[in-house]
This record gives sequence, C-alpha cells and structure tokens, in this order.
Amino acid sequence: MTTVEDPADPSHGTEAAFVTGAAGGIGVSVAQILAERGAPVALADVDAGAVRSLAAELRAAGHVAVGYQLDVRDSEAVRDTVDKAEHELGALGTLVNVAGVLQVGRTTELSEQQWRRTFAVNVDGVFHASRAVVERMMPRRSGCIVTVASNAAGVPRHGMAAYAASKAAAAQFTRCLGLEVAEHGIRCNVVCPGSTETDMLRSMWTDEDGLRATLDGDPAAYRVGIPLRKLATPRDIAEAVAFLASDAAGHITMQDLYVDGGAALRA
Ligand SMILES: NC(=O)c1ccc[n+]([C@@H]2O[C@H](COP(=O)([O-])OP(=O)(O)OC[C@H]3O[C@@H](n4cnc5c(N)ncnc54)[C@H](O)[C@@H]3O)[C@@H](O)[C@H]2O)c1
Repeated sequence: MTTVEDPADPSHGTEAAFVTGAAGGIGVSVAQILAERGAPVALADVDAGAVRSLAAELRAAGHVAVGYQLDVRDSEAVRDTVDKAEHELGALGTLVNVAGVLQVGRTTELSEQQWRRTFAVNVDGVFHASRAVVERMMPRRSGCIVTVASNAAGVPRHGMAAYAASKAAAAQFTRCLGLEVAEHGIRCNVVCPGSTETDMLRSMWTDEDGLRATLDGDPAAYRVGIPLRKLATPRDIAEAVAFLASDAAGHITMQDLYVDGGAALRA
C-alpha cells in the first residue's frame, strides 16, 4: 500500500491510474483495487460530490487519491483533467474507461437525442480519455488502457441497440488503438461485464422479478440467462480490470475479457 502524507506529492513509486466513471458501482471497485495495489488514483466523474468523497475515503485508508469533476463528453475538459492529474499524482501508467450510460428502448422508440447521448458518453468519452492519456504514455514507452464495455458489445440484445452498438464501437476503438500503440509498449484491452450488481442494472428491473429474469433469461427476448446462476459483483469486474492493468498481463493486448458468468456463451 502506498502511504503519502500529502496526496498531491507525486514522489511515489508506482505509476498513477486514471479512472473515469469512478463514482459508479464498478468505478468505485476499480478505484479501490488499484489503490490497494499501490497506485495513486485519479478519480474522474460527472458526480463531483460522490467522487470527492470516495477520494477522501481512500485517503483516510492510507491511499493516494484525488477526485475530479469531469464530463468525458468534453474533450478540452478531459485534456485539462489529465494534465492536472499528472501534475498532482505523477505519470499516468493506467487509464480505465468506466464512465458509461445505459439507454434502453427499441430502435423505433429511440430519439436522436438518446442515441447521440449514448454515443457521446460511451464512445466519444472513451476516445477523448484514451487519446489524452496515450499521448502522454507514448514518449514514456509504457502504459495500459482498459475499457469497460459490455457483453452486449458482442451479443445482439432486444431493446438495447443504442447501448450495445456504442459498446461495440468502444471495444473496437480500444482494440484498434492497441494496434497503433503496441510499438510504443502500450497495451489496450477490453473488459466486457455481464449483469453486475450496480444501480445501472437495477434501473433495468421494473419489478421484484428482475433478478430472477436476469438469472433465468427470457426466451421471448432471445436472451439466455447466466449459467453461473449469479450476478457479478463490482469487485468481480474490478479484479479482471486489475489483472489486465498489471504486469501479469504484460503480453496481453487487443483482447476482450468477458466477465459475465458465461451469459454470452462465447466460443
Ligand atoms: N452494471 C452492469 O450490469 C453493467 C454491465 C455491462 C457493462 N457495464 C458498464 O460498466 C460501466 C460502469 O457501470 P456501472 O454499473 O458501475 O454504472 P453506474 O451507473 O453505477 O456508474 C456509471 C458512472 O459513470 C458516470 N458517468 C456517466 N456519464 C458520465 C460522463 N459524461 N462523464 C463522466 N462520468 C460519467 C456516472 O456518474 C456514474 O458514476 C459502464 O460503462 C457500463 O456500461 C455495466
């Protein structure tokens, strides 16, 4: 564990990590696990209050953490925040793109605004953050990016065309970036969660049957259930992110890791 009296002191040993969407269910777990493994963490989220209190909690536990209010749709703000984070925490060795929004609704019911907002956060946001961070990593010839997409990136889902398409775009962008920056020693990978116990998942449940329907699947919607018969915890997703961000994954790039209890039936 890295313990530094002044959270703004960049004289630490481990390279810092930048996490977008850090105030959400999965983002909090990603921030915690990276901090536990010794990385100073820059926590970015539109929810300023939540991200700042998470940073305070992590500092109280002896970690190095700073919270930033950031809307990943704003490319200038992303660059400024990445600058600030490098100034306050030192070189960024890891970026985790977690920020995301869920939009449900059949295609004929989707407004252009809903479609665009989904892509603005889930795709533009990943582009803005990855570009800003990778520019700084390239001269240092090291670093890694992990994008949290979804198993909906690889499996067609009823009423989720905007979300699934945005996650497929974010995943393919991350793999293409991985190809571009491999010669600079930078790895880029994707974690695809399935149903994970967070507010985002609960927002999809219209009644008490939500959990059962998620575990059992729904033939009317051509959706299989979860073979492991349980939801993922945010920690399950964070462990996969932390593995891909670690030296243990030093020869892994341009890969998708599905963490969905088998729900995507990936061959
Ligand atoms: N929960 C699931 O079942 C599930 C499944 C597959 C994929 N995912 C993906 O995992 C990621 C995290 O999801 P979660 O379940 O923790 O959701 P969540 O809603 O709890 O957290 C999402 C976080 O992103 C932040 N955010 C939203 N728009 C933003 C913006 N424009 N700029 C910066 N931050 C923004 C929110 O404030 C929130 O803190 C998302 O990308 C989501 O699509 C979740």
